[in-house]
Amino acid sequence: MLTLMKTAALVLQNAIRLLGVILIALGIMFWTGHSLDLIRVHMRLGEVLVLLLWVLAGIGMRAGVRPGFALGTIVYGLFIVMFALRMGGLLAGGAHVAIQILHLLFGLGAIGLAESMGAKVKRANG
Ligand code: HEM
Repeated sequence: MLTLMKTAALVLQNAIRLLGVILIALGIMFWTGHSLDLIRVHMRLGEVLVLLLWVLAGIGMRAGVRPGFALGTIVYGLFIVMFALRMGGLLAGGAHVAIQILHLLFGLGAIGLAESMGAKVKRANG
């Protein structure tokens, strides 16, 4: 069972890495004013990333990762989606760039959490 969970965690971790690279690439395009028609695609892919992060956190919990860490990861995922969905209305004007940077950092944080969770599951021993 643990081997299966480790394999699933590795697959999820790699899927999150791939999605992360695509999201950052799309984000950089938006930042430079390109491909704005792909914002919806970016949003759906971002939501999928968070969904996969939740599944990974669930596996982490079953594999014996500290429950607080797994729950924190789930809450964090919810937070970044809520933030991303509202960011359009936050700090309109020149200061909006602060929101954009925060959004990027929060996204990187999600990818970091997936890395950490994946590593913990890999190290779990029953
Ligand atoms: C979780 C990984 C994610 C990463 C690494 C990421 C990264 C980025 C980056 C670098 C940008 C361009 C700069 C900026 O506007 O902040 C961007 C823009 C955007 N992202 Fe994300 N994102 C992620 C998830 C999401 C999610 C979950 C949503 C919504 C459900 C979302 C919605 C948006 C929107 C609407 C924009 C355009 C904002 C604007 O410039 O007006 N992103 N993202």
